[in-house]
Amino acid sequence: MSELDGYYEAVLELVKQGGNLIRENISRQKTVLIKSCDVDLVTETDQMVEKLLINGISAKFPNHKFIGEENTAESNHRVELTDAPTWIIDPVDGTMNFVHAMPHTCISIALYINKRPEIGIVYNPVLEQFFSARRGEGAFYNGAQIRVSGEKDLNKALVMMELGTSRDSQKMKIVMENLKTLTPLVHGTRALGSCALNMCMVAMGAADLMHEFSIHIWDIAAGDLIVREAGGVCIDPAGGDLDPLSRRVLCASSPELAQQVTKILVQYYPDRD
Ligand code: IPD
Repeated sequence: MSELDGYYEAVLELVKQGGNLIRENISRQKTVLIKSCDVDLVTETDQMVEKLLINGISAKFPNHKFIGEENTAESNHRVELTDAPTWIIDPVDGTMNFVHAMPHTCISIALYINKRPEIGIVYNPVLEQFFSARRGEGAFYNGAQIRVSGEKDLNKALVMMELGTSRDSQKMKIVMENLKTLTPLVHGTRALGSCALNMCMVAMGAADLMHEFSIHIWDIAAGDLIVREAGGVCIDPAGGDLDPLSRRVLCASSPELAQQVTKILVQYYPDRD
């Protein structure tokens, strides 16, 4: 068993335990706290799942580092990504859905080594959707290998994009403008309310393109590897390489489709992570 196999086995067990917490609590009364604005929420479950993952991984691999959504919010520190093995964790991606008992919610966790993703897991325990990827080994959905659709034609694309996740009026104006431009050009536009699950829809060929501004590294770290290992592309929405700390992402079933959309989108550049 390689070192990476050991990391994967260990995290798998913890992700299953974290998933149990989400499943048990999604229909219960929750204490909801507000973070940066009144639609940026955190629940006790977000905090419990993140602690469970960090404590469990630290106990086995004391030298590993962490970038966790709730950890970062509490410490008020800027995200620092080094070459050290670093677990990038969103304990509940789609917290707004979780608060409303909408079942599109998941754990997103990735392991970066030398600033490169090695392991990516996105697990929705409510609908039992388990997406995983290891670098160079393909992407999987509930154990079966998945591939992107390969769609190249924008007119035939199903597009994932989030609509109302911010109180930033400048950003919302651009989101609505892009929605207005894209909708008549494509087969349809969809939003699951979870960045990681939106990306997984592209990975499994259920959608062809996804883009979002103002996401964080923990929203995209696992999805990025899963999409690439499924044969898709993840780039900056204006073209060029994806910078995981830039808070901007575009992924697609083909480079051709991705490039077409980079030319159409009105761009938004949030503060970096
Ligand atoms: C959010 C979700 C949402 C996306 C936001 C994310 P969170 O993550 O992924 O779909 O639109 O940009 O911040 O806060 O639920 O972990």
